[in-house]
Amino acid sequence: MKKLPTLHGKTVVNLFFEASTRTRTTFELAAKRLSADVLTLNIAASSAVKGESLLDTLQNIEAMQCDMFVVRHQQSGAAEFIARHVKPHIAVLNAGDGRHAHPTQAMLDVFTIRRHKPDFPNLQIAIVGDILHSRVARSLIHALNILGAADIRVIAPRTLLPAQVETLGVRVFHDIKQGLREVDVVVMLRLQRERMEGALLPSEQEFFQRYGLTGERLALAKPDAMVMHPGPINRGVEIDSRVADGPQSVILEQVTNGIAVRMAIMSITLGHHAHPVGEEV
Ligand code: CP
Repeated sequence: MKKLPTLHGKTVVNLFFEASTRTRTTFELAAKRLSADVLTLNIAASSAVKGESLLDTLQNIEAMQCDMFVVRHQQSGAAEFIARHVKPHIAVLNAGDGRHAHPTQAMLDVFTIRRHKPDFPNLQIAIVGDILHSRVARSLIHALNILGAADIRVIAPRTLLPAQVETLGVRVFHDIKQGLREVDVVVMLRLQRERMEGALLPSEQEFFQRYGLTGERLALAKPDAMVMHPGPINRGVEIDSRVADGPQSVILEQVTNGIAVRMAIMSITLGHHAHPVGEEV
């Protein structure tokens, strides 16, 4: 079925204060496939650039009788802040806030892993690269712990790891060759230059030499290891093109799965309100 009626009559607003390709478009597609009306506010062309405050912008959109805000913001805690300030009937979904959380990405990531390797208690998973600035890593580690993953590893230089990262339930490796040994899943992360303050890295070339995923390094993992990346990928910085486009890569499958997972999240969040009051369900 191309479309489901679940959110017929509902209005979903995409509020993306930070750049996005995958999350914004898959949320939009997901809402449309559930028959919602979808509004994507172009922040750069909105009155926010004329000095309107975030709360004033929100109140004006709220006045348009919306039902759901999907929020991406560069500040950690933004979605939670918005949820506390909008009317209680409006559902707020976090589409990524600063370096804090990206919960729908984690859900599509574990959905993708489960389709290939469903036995989480026996899985070894390595997350490689800029863990310090990564909301994707934080949410994924959280989800993998909930699912009882046996061995969650983070592989990064000391400068790209949060303090006391072990307390999240992970094992730390600074040597990628040791960290990738016999893993089932390799999750590569982008260097988040836009969140870096000061010089945390000598150069992108040196980062690739020490932490880039090449075919040779991937061969240290299990022969059927999956290669994942939330995107956007930086070829030749954290991942070699031949690996990103190779047979073990599920990077584009993650994007496709994002639609189904976001449809499910929106249905669960708003679906129980989808029938007019008084109508038998
Ligand atoms: N994975 C992800 O959040 O990508 P976008 O920034 O393009 O939405």
